[in-house]
Amino acid sequence: MSDTLPTLAVLGGTGAEGSGLAFRWANAGYPVIIGSRTTEKAVAGAAELNALLGKDIVRGMDNLSAATAAEIAILTVPYSAQQSTVADLAAALQGKILVDVTVPLVPPKVNRVQLPEGGSAVVALQQMLGDSVKVVSAFQNVSAHHLKDLHHNVECDVLVCGDDIPSREIVIKLANACGLRGIHAGPLQNSVVAEALTSVLISINQRYKIAGSGIRITGLPE
Ligand SMILES: NC(=O)c1ccc[n+]([C@@H]2O[C@H](COP(=O)([O-])OP(=O)(O)OC[C@H]3O[C@@H](n4cnc5c(N)ncnc54)[C@H](OP(=O)(O)O)[C@@H]3O)[C@@H](O)[C@H]2O)c1
Repeated sequence: MSDTLPTLAVLGGTGAEGSGLAFRWANAGYPVIIGSRTTEKAVAGAAELNALLGKDIVRGMDNLSAATAAEIAILTVPYSAQQSTVADLAAALQGKILVDVTVPLVPPKVNRVQLPEGGSAVVALQQMLGDSVKVVSAFQNVSAHHLKDLHHNVECDVLVCGDDIPSREIVIKLANACGLRGIHAGPLQNSVVAEALTSVLISINQRYKIAGSGIRITGLPE
């Protein structure tokens, strides 16, 4: 990876979570590509972010072109589309980092933990892609709600899980670039905790009538 900031492809970046993360990374100076199933939708999503940012740093492409052009891909599609989206992009992702943000929610009862057979949805992706793709799990607990408001301090730590520690380090930098705190949370299989925790946070949001509860890890040095 070069000294300059890597190009990021946010696959499914037209949605709430992907566009919020893309906005924060573009604001921090990362070249960002919004990926979509349709080029037109991606281009429109990119234009919207550029207008908000007041600079021309976000591009829009179909998911395959975005994954091909980027050094790091971030997957932000619904769980039902996770496996099929990645299967279509497997060749373009070889040798790269894939950051998976997917939460295995099963609508309509999204406030209940309903993990897939085998536990972690992200681990299944790593098995599908093979070792040359470094899959890292992160951002599952970060609500999209306030990401496009740079004045809002998003109070949520990011549990970063992955089997390749240098790739985890890179994703921790990405979390920090969003104004969040990324934390090493162990191997990819530990992602099951972050994946399950989102339903707990959704329950809290519903009960307390708030938009974005988050988590904090205590005891770390400043
Ligand atoms: N929203 C949150 O607060 C939040 C927080 C943490 C984690 N997450 C997780 O992040 C992921 C994205 O969340 P979101 O709220 O942004 O979701 P979303 O808005 O429902 O979907 C994101 C994008 O995924 C693409 N997509 C939808 N259905 C698809 C399909 N069948 N096949 C391929 N692509 C499809 C769409 O892009 P195109 O139509 O442009 O292709 C859509 O804009 C989810 O796994 C969610 O659990 C969300």
